Amino acid sequence: MPATGARPIGTSDETDAARAVQQMFDSIAPKYDLLNHVLSANVDRLWWRRAAMRFREVLARPDAEILDICCGTGDLTMALLKLRPTGARPILAADFARAMLARGAQKFGREARQSPGSNSAAAPYALPIEADALHLPMRSASLDLIVTAFGFRNLANYEAGLAEFHRALKPGGQLGILEFGEPGGLLGKAYAVYFRRVLPAIGRLICGKDGPYNYLPTSVGAFPPPDEMLAMLRQAGYVNCAWQPYTFGIAGLYTATRPPLS
Ligand SMILES: C[S@@+](CC[C@H](N)C(=O)[O-])C[C@H]1O[C@@H](n2cnc3c(N)ncnc32)[C@H](O)[C@@H]1O
Repeated sequence: MPATGARPIGTSDETDAARAVQQMFDSIAPKYDLLNHVLSANVDRLWWRRAAMRFREVLARPDAEILDICCGTGDLTMALLKLRPTGARPILAADFARAMLARGAQKFGREARQSPGSNSAAAPYALPIEADALHLPMRSASLDLIVTAFGFRNLANYEAGLAEFHRALKPGGQLGILEFGEPGGLLGKAYAVYFRRVLPAIGRLICGKDGPYNYLPTSVGAFPPPDEMLAMLRQAGYVNCAWQPYTFGIAGLYTATRPPLS
């Protein structure tokens, strides 16, 4: 199977694709949260919360090492933090677009979550880390959980991403990938009109430019469907691979585990 990955228009190799994705997110960072909530009618909040709930057991362990990769402006990170106990290890929240990460840090960073002298001093928080998902600055076999929301589809090489997550997870560590999908049937047809025509037009209006919200439906259309993603996860060495559709398959959560040592 040839390597697959995001290829924004005008890019032909992985380096170009990654640079284009990074620049695109840096450029839309100031409007990203507003656009997200408007375009999804706030359903995105339910998806982040539901994905976080799926990992509530590991999140409840104060010493668990958790990475939210492609954290962007941090809304999944915030949903994860709600399930962390007081005094827990900080969540690692990483992204390669500095402007997105800076906005996230204003929500989930230590200073935002813990005001000195108040009884919030032990409130769980996240550490912002500027990093590329394909070259994580984490030791091998060091993480209990890696999660990512709407970021994986943007990686320039999906197999390389899955291999890098596998390297960084402990044996028995869990992976969660929340991504858009394309629902089938009549609803799918109606949704396709919204997603391919209405959404880019609203995006253009709020954002003031064309590219990013044309890229969204194009990249979702080019993303491997669930059966291919599951095959890719197994091929990368994961076990217990599953896909749970959210909201008729408009989004869905892939879950997988790095095999425990036997
Ligand atoms: C659609 S946003 C999602 C942000 C956030 N997780 C959310 O649910 O709103 C995708 C994010 O993935 C980041 N990203 C894409 N490719 C990346 C890579 N190779 N390494 C790190 N971050 C990446 C982008 O910078 C962007 O912030």
